[in-house]
Amino acid sequence: MTLVKAARWFSSVLVAASAVASAATPDDQSVSLGHHQFESSCAMCHAVEKSKGNIVGPNLAGVVGRKIGKLSGFQYSAALKDSKGAWDEASLDAFLKNPQAAQPGTAMPFAGIRNDEDRRALITYLKTAR
Ligand code: HEC
Repeated sequence: MTLVKAARWFSSVLVAASAVASAATPDDQSVSLGHHQFESSCAMCHAVEKSKGNIVGPNLAGVVGRKIGKLSGFQYSAALKDSKGAWDEASLDAFLKNPQAAQPGTAMPFAGIRNDEDRRALITYLKTAR
């Protein structure tokens, strides 16, 4: 191997190594943990792909930043329909921790996720659902 070839080989190894390193950022890890959470706790009632529409619960594509209880074509409880504001990290966190405490009277039949890490990961995942 000439010196030039060796240098090229070495730099391509470095590029490959940094690609691998950046593929597993903490954010990616929470997205995959959040995806897992979603599949086990939410997917029976909610779709995240827009094309799948509403199931038992409203479609959650783009839910972070969306107005609370206003997706057209879904019959919300009065609790969510009359709720003001939009879903952001804080309101989602409170709702997913204890739906009835955060939105009294909601028809979402879900007890809540007590683990803070799990909720954080789930919200990180929901942000990717556009
Ligand atoms: C057994 C079915 C069921 C499960 C499980 C469930 N949901 Fe729901 N969800 C609903 C229903 C029904 C509503 C509408 C509630 C209402 O109108 O008060 C809702 C509403 C919501 C809303 C409000 C959306 C909007 O447009 O304002 C969010 C956000 C949400 N759910 C997230 C989740 C997440 C995340 C999970 C998993 C941790 C989950 N839900 C689990 C049935 C469910």
